[in-house]
Amino acid sequence: MATHTERLTATGPESPKATTPDTSASASAATAVADRPAVQLRALTRSFDGRKVLDGVDLDIPAGQFVALLGHSGSGKSTLLRAVAGLDHEVVGSGRLAAPSRVSVVFQDSRLLPWRRVLDNVLLGAEGREAAARGREALAEVGLKGRERAWPNELSGGEAQRAALARSLVREPELLLADEPFGALDALTRIKMHTLLRQLWERHRPSVLLVTHDVDEAIVLADRVLVLEEGRIGLDLTIDRPHPRSYRDPLLGEYRERLLAALGVKEDH
Ligand SMILES: Nc1ncnc2c1ncn2[C@@H]1O[C@H](COP(=O)(O)OP(=O)(O)O)[C@@H](O)[C@H]1O
Ligand SMILES: [Mg+2]
Repeated sequence: MATHTERLTATGPESPKATTPDTSASASAATAVADRPAVQLRALTRSFDGRKVLDGVDLDIPAGQFVALLGHSGSGKSTLLRAVAGLDHEVVGSGRLAAPSRVSVVFQDSRLLPWRRVLDNVLLGAEGREAAARGREALAEVGLKGRERAWPNELSGGEAQRAALARSLVREPELLLADEPFGALDALTRIKMHTLLRQLWERHRPSVLLVTHDVDEAIVLADRVLVLEEGRIGLDLTIDRPHPRSYRDPLLGEYRERLLAALGVKEDH
């Protein structure tokens, strides 16, 4: 049985409750009402083998907000992200979901096609001089200028993720969904990627939903951190600290403790 979620674009002129289902790709950020959330979930459920993994998730993400989603392994983070991305048509579920039409998704593994050069991976089939120029620009933005003609297997893990970010950017997404994008990187590379992701967000201002299991990654990057527990948003925390943030900022410690407590982790002092 497929999902019964009513999928609506979040960029139409009316409020989603009043709109009829509309999946046309023509809606764009230009028509968005400023205070309209980019993402709206209402009573979203998703089940596997009769077990509800998402059990009535309600969530609004305002346009341009940077949100991190934490939760234990198996709590349903990827299930939620895939629902918002519209990648879960085979999954049993219900609820209402509104999301922008221009969405990019980044996964833990870069998913570059090994038989295409880096620039061709970024362009994903788009042709012409203008597309190529945009692709080169995106590669320069992520620090890969000069690597346009490299093959994916010539890139380090961090460089491959930079290329994946460039590929997500060329589409100028209204919503960037990222599922543990830095989970496979070493600690130093991860910190560099945090800085890069935040810079890219500041320049392009998409809404971001970053799935992570790393509390420090969440509080250093996001302006709002959610904890998924028992199929719902158990904690919704606004991180009111200026950027760029440091892991060592003692004022982030209080947020860290609240999040760890929500995750059932006790810190030793
Ligand atoms: N395609 C699937 N088929 C069966 N069970 C699934 C499928 N996808 C996810 N699950 C189950 O749903 C639960 C949540 O998975 P997931 O969303 O991947 O968790 P997380 O990303 O938080 O680690 C897990 O128990 C997982 O085994
Ligand atoms: Mg996951």
